[in-house]
Amino acid sequence: MPAEMPQNPSDEAEPLARLSSMKNAHKPDAAPPESPPEDAANANPAAAPADPAIDQEPMAIISDIHGNLEGLTVVMEEINKRGIRRICCLGDVIGYGPNPLECMDIVINACEFTIMGNHDFAIFYEPYNFNTAAENAAFWTRGQFETDTDRERRNRRWRYLGSMQTRLNTSRFLAVHGSPRRPINEYIFPDDIFSAQQKISLIFDRITHLCFVGHTHVPGVFVQHPDFYSPEDLGNKYVISDEKAIINVGSVGQPRDHDPRSSFAILHPDHVEFIRLPYDVATTVEKVRAIDALDNFLGQRLVEGT
Ligand SMILES: [Fe+2]
Repeated sequence: MPAEMPQNPSDEAEPLARLSSMKNAHKPDAAPPESPPEDAANANPAAAPADPAIDQEPMAIISDIHGNLEGLTVVMEEINKRGIRRICCLGDVIGYGPNPLECMDIVINACEFTIMGNHDFAIFYEPYNFNTAAENAAFWTRGQFETDTDRERRNRRWRYLGSMQTRLNTSRFLAVHGSPRRPINEYIFPDDIFSAQQKISLIFDRITHLCFVGHTHVPGVFVQHPDFYSPEDLGNKYVISDEKAIINVGSVGQPRDHDPRSSFAILHPDHVEFIRLPYDVATTVEKVRAIDALDNFLGQRLVEGT
């Protein structure tokens, strides 16, 4: 592990390099409250109950943007180029990256639903179980939100963050940031299929068919056996059947599967398509380096996809 690797693996685990460790499977359930504030304005349609109107129209599912404007721009261009009108975001819009306001504004304008991630939670409420680099980035990000001189834009962003729900349950799928049992904070790692089978079993008990997640920044599909298939294993296409599946769409702004390209997925009527897109990593890294509150490691990891 490099010297600059964050100290706390619970928020910063390098999922594929993490050797079989049981510690994630047996952490006490000490998650923070996961309910939205009662006074949150209904600015984000994810605040709505189950949406029976979800139909067969293709839907882009993006996650873990982390304030990376260059990555998000490339992904949004691809979605537009494909004529896809519906976009669901699984959270962590902000945190770590140098352009949180710009990314939040794009998400507010483009996404039909946005689920709350642990970094969104950290900026709206408080950082929970973060290492120093992540916490410093969270406080810097909060400062960006607080000091925008345009009151209307400022309030709109806070309303949107405050209205984010922890899960979206539609007629086609369940969507959460982390896992169905601890939607904000629990990681489902690929190696859990070997090292934490009970955890995987308990998680699958909580879903009825398809569940989309982010949080680990590692794309792929978990099935109940248990097993895990990377997009590469699947030829970038998971064919939907009757079997339960937990589908991680990867990260737009901070991939951690040793592939620096932005990752997202499209839900088609009968399959899920995984997509990777190169973006201008060097520009993002330069921006990170220019901001003292953002650890240089947060730029370096973008180059390495870790
Ligand atoms: Fe994340």
